[in-house]
Amino acid sequence: MQKNTFGSMRRILCMVQFHYADFPISEKFVLIIFLKKGLHRPGARTTIHIFSAADSSGMLSAQEITHRFLDTKLQVHPEVVRYILEQDEPALIERIIAGVPKDTIVVSAKHIPGVKPVRDGMRFAVDPDVEVVSGSAGTSGAVNGTGDYLHYFRDRYSRLGGMIRSRVGAMPIEGLTKNSRYRQEECTVIGMVVEVKTTTNGHRIAEIEDSGGTISVLFRKDRPVFSDAERIIHDEVIGVKGKLSNDGKLFFAELLYRPDIRIDNAPFKSGQPGKAVFISDTHVGSNTFLDASWNKFADWLSDSDYSYLLIAGDLVDGIGIYPGQDTELTIKNIYEQYDAFGAMMQDLPSRMKIIISPGNHDVVRGAEPQPVLPAQFVKEFPSNCVLVENPALVRLQGVRVLMYHGRSIDDMIGLIPGASYEKSGQMMEEMLTRRHLAPAYGRKTPIAAGKTDRLIIDPLPEILHTGHVHIKGITNYRGVLGINAGTWQSQTKFQKQMNVNPTPALAVAVDLQTLVPETFSFA
Ligand SMILES: [Fe+2]
Ligand SMILES: [Fe+2]
Repeated sequence: MQKNTFGSMRRILCMVQFHYADFPISEKFVLIIFLKKGLHRPGARTTIHIFSAADSSGMLSAQEITHRFLDTKLQVHPEVVRYILEQDEPALIERIIAGVPKDTIVVSAKHIPGVKPVRDGMRFAVDPDVEVVSGSAGTSGAVNGTGDYLHYFRDRYSRLGGMIRSRVGAMPIEGLTKNSRYRQEECTVIGMVVEVKTTTNGHRIAEIEDSGGTISVLFRKDRPVFSDAERIIHDEVIGVKGKLSNDGKLFFAELLYRPDIRIDNAPFKSGQPGKAVFISDTHVGSNTFLDASWNKFADWLSDSDYSYLLIAGDLVDGIGIYPGQDTELTIKNIYEQYDAFGAMMQDLPSRMKIIISPGNHDVVRGAEPQPVLPAQFVKEFPSNCVLVENPALVRLQGVRVLMYHGRSIDDMIGLIPGASYEKSGQMMEEMLTRRHLAPAYGRKTPIAAGKTDRLIIDPLPEILHTGHVHIKGITNYRGVLGINAGTWQSQTKFQKQMNVNPTPALAVAVDLQTLVPETFSFA
């Protein structure tokens, strides 16, 4: 009996650990109990393991995994918990714990056996200082007929689906639903979310489709997968592992995969000295533009050794962007707004490269990708300005920076529980985990569908630079640094009504050799 039980330890699918004093024995769970004392680390407490055959789903919850580490006096990084959940290999926890060095306090990705940080290929030191990888002038494409929408979504599905498929095997939805032999067998499908809603019982249900079929996927509120499922938004591409119902109509999900960033992603760092400054949302022409702060910033740049300035859109306040805007403008002519912005750029050190992309207040079309500013508006811009589209991927000494103004954040805030303008760092993580800058189609963010989806985050940048929300946020998600530096405009009337409190006159600087961000205030 005992031999069998231990022999099947790796196969037994639900392991629960309790401290003795908290032991809530229930009939359902108790199959075998054994005592273990300090097997892995000196001082580890006595624990009781309860193995259950009643639940054969194979899933350990995030909480159970965390507790297992805590039992050996180790804290565990959420990335590691997520990785273990995805691997679905109960013995992995023990292997990780066994290999953790003695003085470790927090178990991180580097402690996972077999996971080693890798660089994604060679980048040569002979790169020009600024190279526009994508989003150079004239590449945004025209808005064409409905045929392009088909190409656009096919491209989105195949590329994002491919990222998931590189980690897990999946089968076509049609193959699953048409063939009764897969009923009650665990399998994985990958689809684009057509619709997602919460049921009257509080579960989450999503309809997903691939190129051949659709299926309804149920995420039960009492399953570990539910917290991930709450953040599902329409038009994102997801993978789900689970089982089909007996009638073949409903798929019960146990795990959710997003295209995401590999846990072993290691950002490229420049081999040569070089520093970049990140800002956005200058809103020149508005009566809330912070002139004096900008001048302080310009003086600071003149005395510094920064090589690059990146500005992620909303350069000027624009004209007719919102009702009654003309009463809040000090410059009421759009050409003069850009001339004033150009004069500000002339005032900065000419040795710097200034990379400029547009936002929703700028003069170009609103549909993304937004083209570069047209020639008639940039006559006063100095020659060290590099104009790019929104979004654009640029390389600074080999370090990739993805510039995106961030209008899609308006949409995500309405769709993702807990999301807010104050959490612009989290918003960038939501983009990165979905590997898409504007996952939800057809809401506030207009998208010009082309043959390819230019808003997919591929290749992965070292830095994601956004703006639009006017509130500073910095994050580091799986090695990618997310920067939103806020704005150069104080609180507007509209923001006051909406209770939005901007963080103006900040600049975020990054040393390209270390990728460590530093924030400077000019308020
Ligand atoms: Fe803005
Ligand atoms: Fe904006």
